[in-house]
Amino acid sequence: MAYHRPSGLPEEYPSSSAADFKSDTVTTPTPSMLQSMLTATHGDDVYKEDRTTNDFQARVAEMCGKPAGLFVVSGTMGNQLCLRAHLHQPPYSILCDYRSHVYTHEAAGLAMLSQAMVTPVHPKNKVYLTADDVNEYLILHNDIHTAPTRVISLENTLDGTIMPIEEIAKISALARRHNIRMHCDGARLWNASAETGISLSEYGKLFDSMSLCMSKGVGAPVGTVIVGETDFIETTNWFRKQTGGGIRQAGLLAAAADTALTEIFPKVLKETHETTKKLAADLAEMGLTFQLPVETNFIFLDLEKANIDPKVLVEESKKVGITVVGARIAIHHQISLEAIEKLKVAVKNTIDICKLSTTQVEKPEGSLFYSGFDKVVH
Ligand SMILES: Cc1ncc(COP(=O)(O)O)c(C=O)c1O
Repeated sequence: MAYHRPSGLPEEYPSSSAADFKSDTVTTPTPSMLQSMLTATHGDDVYKEDRTTNDFQARVAEMCGKPAGLFVVSGTMGNQLCLRAHLHQPPYSILCDYRSHVYTHEAAGLAMLSQAMVTPVHPKNKVYLTADDVNEYLILHNDIHTAPTRVISLENTLDGTIMPIEEIAKISALARRHNIRMHCDGARLWNASAETGISLSEYGKLFDSMSLCMSKGVGAPVGTVIVGETDFIETTNWFRKQTGGGIRQAGLLAAAADTALTEIFPKVLKETHETTKKLAADLAEMGLTFQLPVETNFIFLDLEKANIDPKVLVEESKKVGITVVGARIAIHHQISLEAIEKLKVAVKNTIDICKLSTTQVEKPEGSLFYSGFDKVVH
C-alpha cells in the first residue's frame, strides 16, 4: 500500500506542521476553518449569548449522548474542571492509569484544584487498565486512614492505544455499583471512535463526564468540549469562571472547532491512522520495535531495545528537515508525504550511526518523560 494524502482536504495549503512529528497539537487551521471564523457570531459567551458557541457545544454534547456541553480553552482545563466538579468533600481519591495525562502532565492540578489523592495503577497487560486492575486498587471502605475512591478517570486513546469498550463497560459497571463517578479524558476519543466505528454516544453511556479536545488530531487552533448532565456542566462553568477560563467572543474559536470537526472527523482522522500503521510497518522492516501497539496516530519507538541514542535521532531528523523530539512519533493530517520519506531516511541514518557505536546508550537521569526514551517506564 502506498502512502497517500488524506482525502477531502484542499490540494494546496501551506502548514508549518507539514514536517513536524512532535505532536498532533501542532496542526494549523485549514482555509475553511479560517473562513468559518469570519461568519461566526460575536455574542458574549460568559453571558451564554453566543449562538455559534451554544450550537457547537450542543452539537458535541448530542454526539456524545449527553444533555449539555461546555467549550473550554484546553484539554487540561476540561479534565480539571470535570474532576473538580465530581468531587465534594475531601478526603477522596481519583483512580487512573499511572501514565494518565491528568496525573502526570497537568501540573499537579488534581492536588492544587481538587485536593485529591491519586491512585495511579499499572495495567497488568502493560497497555490498558482492566476491571480487575481497577478492582484491586479501589478504596471503598470508611477507614479514617484512607481517601476513598470517588472518581475513576480513564484516558482513551492513551499513548495512541485504544481501550476496548468491553473493558470500559466492566469498569463502568464496577464504578456504578460503588457510586463512583466515571470521567473520560477523551482528548483523542475522536481517534478511538474513528478507528473502531464505535460512536461517541456509545462511549458516552459509560461515563459521567467526557473531555474531548478539538486542537489535537481534529486540528482546530483552540479548544476542548466537556460534556455531561446539565447540572454537572453548570458546576463546571462555575469553576471555569473561577479559573479565569470564561471566553467572551468565543464564537470565533468555536466556529473553527466546529468546521474542524466536520472536515476531519471521522474519515480524515482514520486516514492518518492508516498512514501511521503503514509507517510503523516500514520502520519494523528496518528492524525497529515499538513500546506499544500502533493503533491510531502515535508510534512509540523502542529506542532502548534498538540501542538508539535519542539525541542522534533528533539530530538526523533535523538534518533532513523534519522535527522529531524522541521516541514518540505523531502523525496528523498535515504531515506531508515528503516528510514521511524524510523520516524514514532519518531513521535509517540513525540506525546506521548507532550500529557503529559499541557503547550501550545510557538512560538519562531523572524523569523519563521528555527524555527521548519517553514513557519506557513499565
Ligand atoms: C491525553 C491528553 N489529555 C489532555 C491533554 C491536555 O490538553 P491541552 O494541551 O489542550 O491542555 C493532552 C495534551 O496533549 C493529552 O495528550
